[in-house]
Amino acid sequence: MNNMQIIRGFRDILPENIKLWQKVEKEAKELFEDFGFDEIRLPVLEKTEVFARSIGEATDIVEKEMYTFPDRKGDKLTLRPEATASMVRAYVQHKMYASDPVRKFYTIGPMFRRERPQKGRYRQFYQIDAEIFGVESAYVDANLIFLLNELFSRLGLSDLKAHINSLGCPDCRPDFQKALLNLLESKKEELCPDCIRRKESNPLRTLDCKVPQCKEALKEAPTTLDFLCKECHGHFETVKRVLKQQNVEFIEDKTLVRGLDYYTRTAFEIQTTSLGAQSAVAGGGRYDLLVKEMGGPDIPAIGFAIGFDRLVEVMEALEKSADKQLLDLFIIALGDAATEKGYYWSTDLNLKGIRCEIDYRGKSLKALMKRADKLGAKYVLIAGEKEIKENALILRNMNTREQISISADNPVADIVGAFKKNN
Ligand code: HAM
Repeated sequence: MNNMQIIRGFRDILPENIKLWQKVEKEAKELFEDFGFDEIRLPVLEKTEVFARSIGEATDIVEKEMYTFPDRKGDKLTLRPEATASMVRAYVQHKMYASDPVRKFYTIGPMFRRERPQKGRYRQFYQIDAEIFGVESAYVDANLIFLLNELFSRLGLSDLKAHINSLGCPDCRPDFQKALLNLLESKKEELCPDCIRRKESNPLRTLDCKVPQCKEALKEAPTTLDFLCKECHGHFETVKRVLKQQNVEFIEDKTLVRGLDYYTRTAFEIQTTSLGAQSAVAGGGRYDLLVKEMGGPDIPAIGFAIGFDRLVEVMEALEKSADKQLLDLFIIALGDAATEKGYYWSTDLNLKGIRCEIDYRGKSLKALMKRADKLGAKYVLIAGEKEIKENALILRNMNTREQISISADNPVADIVGAFKKNN
């Protein structure tokens, strides 16, 4: 094994693949800003407590997927597996609720989970995360799902479906849990070892076990929807009504339980059929108790995170491409004097917003014309010794093959002029 190779489950996103990432990021930022979200940037490392307490000690993430290590003084630190806990930590720590509890934030960045790597699943992956604090109304639940739907449609993705469920609240959860535990007890001979364990530690998670035997045994399991209290029921009905009104297609999915413990009421995922097993491109939900649990006042909240890597993979599968950015101008400078001048021209042009390159390797005119072609240059500026001496550089339009002669005294202004005229 070569020690200079990247860590398993981590990857480089290379320049040839970055355009789609930039396109998604640009669309997302524009849309979020229009919908009143402000960007926030958070550290990738937090005290382990921040995640363990919020995500839940008995979840897969906390039990087996976090990158946790002691720092040199012995503090237990964790590379963030998600952004919500850090977001709440920051909201509480900076008392952001003091002037106005209603705040809307988004953040984009890397997350870390030590899962088994496969397509669409990495140990360092990226999320586009948005959270709304301080609003209990079901309108914001619908609004967030609407927002996701709008983003995906702007990106040209139509095979995505919202799955929604309600997980209830502390008033209705206990009755549901009792019913579920009764069933789990009666079916315990048929459950997989993981579900036997979950029965004690996190019974809700048995509902989305993928083992066929468990699926069969829990076919008739009670669902949170069967037990919703009047308020939770009304809340969920409003979410569905508003989504219908706004023509957002969704599936009411009573098996959707999510992998994090902090959820109450609305939970949702956006799923695709084009990524095999890793079908969730985004997930989120309401977490009305978490701000208080993390030391803040009693303030409701809701949010989602988009799996950036997966979203880009869906777009690649559908052959959505971002336009490759081509070169505006390639400077062919022949000889030392021309190269020196060409260097200053190219820097000036870069400063004026023209994507321009110059080659310093002393190659022939023929070789450099070939290179200009390869780079997809729209224009080529030819500055040989003869052109400099005669004060007549050649500016060639590579599409039309039209050539004009420009002065070597101030070619930058002429080139900018030519660009303004033709673009
Ligand atoms: P999550 O469902 O754990 O939720 O993750 C959200 C999305 O991140 C997933 O739907 C998936 O697309 C992507 N994702 C998760 N793990 C990986 C991985 N190993 N490799 C690639 N992509 C992955 C959360 O993280 C919550 N914090 C969402 C939230 C925000 N809930 C409320 N606010």
